[in-house]
Amino acid sequence: MVIAVPLLDVVRSRQAKPYNPLPAAASFFGSAEDIRSLTMKLHPTGKFDNQAKPYTRLTALPLASAMGAEIQGVDLSALDDATFAEIADALYRHKMIFFRDQRIALEHQEALTARFGPFGTDAYTPGMPGHPNVQRVVKEADVRVKLIFGSGWHTDSPFLEQPPSISMLFGVDIPPYGGDTIWANTALAYDFLSETMQQVVGPLRVHMSAAGVMSALADKAPGDGAAAKMGSVELDVDRQAIIAGWSHPLVRRHPVTGEKALYVDETYSSGIEGMTDPEARALLGFLQQHVTQPAFTCRLRWAPNTLAIWDNRLCIHQAFNDHDGFRREMYRTTVLGEVPR
Ligand SMILES: [Fe+2]
Repeated sequence: MVIAVPLLDVVRSRQAKPYNPLPAAASFFGSAEDIRSLTMKLHPTGKFDNQAKPYTRLTALPLASAMGAEIQGVDLSALDDATFAEIADALYRHKMIFFRDQRIALEHQEALTARFGPFGTDAYTPGMPGHPNVQRVVKEADVRVKLIFGSGWHTDSPFLEQPPSISMLFGVDIPPYGGDTIWANTALAYDFLSETMQQVVGPLRVHMSAAGVMSALADKAPGDGAAAKMGSVELDVDRQAIIAGWSHPLVRRHPVTGEKALYVDETYSSGIEGMTDPEARALLGFLQQHVTQPAFTCRLRWAPNTLAIWDNRLCIHQAFNDHDGFRREMYRTTVLGEVPR
């Protein structure tokens, strides 16, 4: 026999009990599955789509559900136009792509970078002798530092008027373990926002500044912030310019694919135009946490002769400072980006 109980009484009786997470809540709202959909915004998904396209010149193997793909069947030292077109397509689709076992010289990396557009500005390092557009990113085995180049979630140099659109890293000397890089798909993160939040963030402009990085460096080497080192990387910095920074759309549209993505990170996003500091901090704090959820990420274990390419307009990334005792050496190039829109 079913006894009808007024709904309000049921609510009161539930409220009177001490907090008891899933079983009681599940029977109140419905099934345990219903509760998960309320509390874990990533399930059910319906938005993850990192499937590879069927290419003719290469094979793309997805790395994670959120993003990333290994590209196989390509020799980057001998690249024709048709293969490059598929590489670019795979990059925009997967946000980060990587190639194993590439026997390439600096000239090959420079040539591949130049296929995407003019070289980007590097605000931190002077470049290598004879290769001004290649930055050597190295941490020696005996160096112990709190801050290394690229640690902390970031998009590359967003404090510039035209931040680099695309970045490339070629691994030369790689620790046996540690030194991974992690990326987060900021287009997917945008898709997971509610329509209301998308409308809130859509018209906003985020201020990007290297003030936080510079003050961390100044703490490390007081009075000599502009000529400091980050790990073993020599810095050559126009301190004033990168601290002053630049404002960009908080939601930017990719010029090729038309995808919208959040342009926000933990390292450089320092304010929102027209908002007070507490207002901006609250919104940026939420967005910074939102975009870096593990489900939006992929993680690359480097090996010598691995080249990774990522699109700074569609993802953010972070290096790990977790390989003390092991040397790590990489070569980095960037492509000059458009003014974000
Ligand atoms: Fe970076």
